[in-house]
Amino acid sequence: MLVRGGVTWIVTFAICWYSAIKLSSSADTSNFKKCQDVSFCRHHRRHANTRRSTQYNIVADSVKLHSSSVLQFSVETPQRKNHLDCQLHGLAQKTLRLQVRERDPIRKRYEVEDSLAAPPEPADDGLPISSQTDSSTELQFGDATVHLKYAPVSLRVSVNGVDVLSLNSKKLLEFRSSQSREQASKAAIKGGDWEETFKTFNDSKPFGPQSIGLDVTFHKAKQVYGIPEHADSFALQPTMSKKHVLRDPYRLYNLDVFKYEVNTNTALYGSVPLMLSHSAQLTAGVFWNNVAETWVDVNERKGDAEISTHWFSESGIIDVFLFLGPSPADIFQQYATLTGYSPLPPMFAISYHQSRWNYNDEGDVYNVVNGFDEDEIPVDVIWLDIEHTSEKKYLTWDRERFPDPERMQDQLWSVHRRMVSIIDPHIKREDGYHVHDEASQQDFYVKSRNGSAYEGYCWPGQSSWIDFLNPAARQWWAGKMSLEKFMGSTLSLFGWNDMNEPSVFDGPEISMHKDAVHDGDWEHRDVHNIYGFYQHKATMDGMLARSDGKVRPFVLSRAFFAGSQRFGPVWTGDNTADWSHLKMSIPMLLSLGSAGLSFSGADVGGFFADPDVELLLRWYQAGAYQPFFRAHAHLDSRRREPHLLPERVRQVVRSAVMQRYMLLPYWYTTFWTASKTGLPVMRPLWLEFPRDEKVFALDDEYLIGKDLLVKPVTESYAESWPVYLPGKYQLWYNFFDYARFTGGKSHIMKVGITTIPVFQRAGSVVVTKDRLRRSSEAMLHDPITLRVALDSKLRASGELYVDDGTTYAYQNNEYLHRRFTFSNNKLTSKSADETGSYKTKSWVEKVLVIGLKREPNSIIMSLNKKKIDLNFSWLKDQRTAVIRKPDVNLSKDFSIAFT
Ligand code: NOJ
Repeated sequence: MLVRGGVTWIVTFAICWYSAIKLSSSADTSNFKKCQDVSFCRHHRRHANTRRSTQYNIVADSVKLHSSSVLQFSVETPQRKNHLDCQLHGLAQKTLRLQVRERDPIRKRYEVEDSLAAPPEPADDGLPISSQTDSSTELQFGDATVHLKYAPVSLRVSVNGVDVLSLNSKKLLEFRSSQSREQASKAAIKGGDWEETFKTFNDSKPFGPQSIGLDVTFHKAKQVYGIPEHADSFALQPTMSKKHVLRDPYRLYNLDVFKYEVNTNTALYGSVPLMLSHSAQLTAGVFWNNVAETWVDVNERKGDAEISTHWFSESGIIDVFLFLGPSPADIFQQYATLTGYSPLPPMFAISYHQSRWNYNDEGDVYNVVNGFDEDEIPVDVIWLDIEHTSEKKYLTWDRERFPDPERMQDQLWSVHRRMVSIIDPHIKREDGYHVHDEASQQDFYVKSRNGSAYEGYCWPGQSSWIDFLNPAARQWWAGKMSLEKFMGSTLSLFGWNDMNEPSVFDGPEISMHKDAVHDGDWEHRDVHNIYGFYQHKATMDGMLARSDGKVRPFVLSRAFFAGSQRFGPVWTGDNTADWSHLKMSIPMLLSLGSAGLSFSGADVGGFFADPDVELLLRWYQAGAYQPFFRAHAHLDSRRREPHLLPERVRQVVRSAVMQRYMLLPYWYTTFWTASKTGLPVMRPLWLEFPRDEKVFALDDEYLIGKDLLVKPVTESYAESWPVYLPGKYQLWYNFFDYARFTGGKSHIMKVGITTIPVFQRAGSVVVTKDRLRRSSEAMLHDPITLRVALDSKLRASGELYVDDGTTYAYQNNEYLHRRFTFSNNKLTSKSADETGSYKTKSWVEKVLVIGLKREPNSIIMSLNKKKIDLNFSWLKDQRTAVIRKPDVNLSKDFSIAFT
């Protein structure tokens, strides 16, 4: 009893301590390591600074083709006679892969497989050797040439004589091979290679130093981007100048950082080791496929266009992919071919989500929903945070507060709404709790060094963590999502995986001890960055299986790795209700989107603290134009659901949410495009305007798809707002009043409190649904409006993708893909893909043609060989014709002639 009481007290203390940190005004950065606190980081940086020449040379007679697309060679370090086995693979989609493994390591090294969607396809033309000498080999790779130099080893890729990427040209390759403790010098043991202490935490490092490092040079690069997640600018900032250390390297180590600060490159919840480079001539990319703690130094740009970077990871092998582009769109496709496309989400998932920690009980949930209905604000999903469970035992319900969860979900479902509930990876250690009992019996917990289940504190108190690295544990966990096993769940309940970095309140850096042990005898240090990825995968697999693969799943995750896009959306975690965080949401989401995670968002309103009304409504305006649109708030923040806001503010919020719903056909088509092409949904301007150098470092405005440019207002008391419209020969229209602007320069917009600066690209057709409904599902068969924005040659085109928004029936041709084209004074609607046979009641209700030279004399529609004279009105100042009721089913081909 006494012991139990003691444990309870400690648990309460730990949670209060955690909450106190959470509520304090700023992050306690001392909880997290800097480079100087990490022995391998110090080691590799020292290597770079002292620039000692490399010891790594290719053994000349080892170089040979292993198969038509794989070159094999070995590298030796003369001092230790230690061999590294290297393989260079020529892959499909202009992608090269270099793998460097230690020969006969005394301990195996972790190799990451599941970040890749499938084993990569070899290149059709292989990787033939074009010339070879005693000191170099040259290989042909499509239109690229790979130059391999032997001493010191380096690899350079050029296309048509122009260098694109180089590896080890700065001689920073280092592969610290395994050794026994007896072999290690005293200095190494003292220096942190064999044992390291941070604050009160000891890392036993039983296998000593195993880190790897390599430099990667991007030639023809004006800027580099990527390697999320950091609360920092989209274009990466140099961390090293020629002479000085400017800041810590970018750190990739999934961490739960309380009250994270902005404008810093310290680690956050997820990691994607993908870096892109861009210049007017070329886009290239590098993916460092390693899930151990990783740091990346970015050197100041040399001359006009060369950025060298230095990557180092604590363990694992060197497995690096080079993407040769050359266009931005090529890079996104190349990366998506490798790590997977983000699947088409269900329509509700890209609509508005209402969350808070917590909705207190069933009545509270109904009140919130009724508030939306009374104020006529659409909402698709209500979220339940940890308090809905019985004592933070996930997959259970607090039956006092939620006596009949099925009834509650059915009630929401009857008004076309879904629900999401949270499912964290830490499991309360309580006998009789079925998840704990089964996990213990089946040995599915991560272990501590001594072989017992790893234990630590988290929301439920004393907890253990499911070992998601174990495929059997994943399968079991997925089974737990079934309707029979997850009591109180229905097919309209979806999932949210939080705290899966993993967050351990009393662990080092609020995470798991690195010497904890996973299935396969891997140390946590070897696999840390992929832990959350596997929980996300298992939960998603389970949600898919529970409907026999018929209903599209939805699972949000906080931690992620490369490839997580295959499982569902992510968000930027616990931001703060502060203007700086609203502003930072844009570069953070651009960075996630450019690293394959197209479906991402930031808590609208800010998680910590209370936004004032101006900040809140500006946040709604921004969120309505970001891919994942969810309001969420901390337990101790004041309630801020739209229906509680003052009338005037509520109207502004309502208008922002309605804009999201109005544009759902466009968003959905853009998500569908992402699922086919890998192009991000939220795009940096340089993706569409790759030669406009003015946009290379812009990260306060962006494109949704290719046709809508958005620059949300992110400053208090803004009255005027500069917006740069790209493209010297590009025209733009204000999306709301059709005013015309020329591209290639900045325009100052007057911004009232209701203004969201959104521009439609001249030359595009954007489809909207303009009727107000409760939720996206209620809009399924609603009529559409075509917004045809003409370019200077009076042309425009656009497309629309439609299906049932819920199931996989689209994979059996139940979809429509339409193309709209305006040219020669005629608008035509045609099927872009005859296989699609989805039946819809949706019809064309309105057509706006913006930017005509003069008022048309007549507008005649041709449909089924009939000619129909259409009524229209003419907005003289906007040179816009508004055609009402063409009244034709969306699936029908038609044309409309303007004379
Ligand atoms: C941390 C998450 O980031 C936050 O969104 C959530 O509300 C709390 N955990 C409680 O579950």
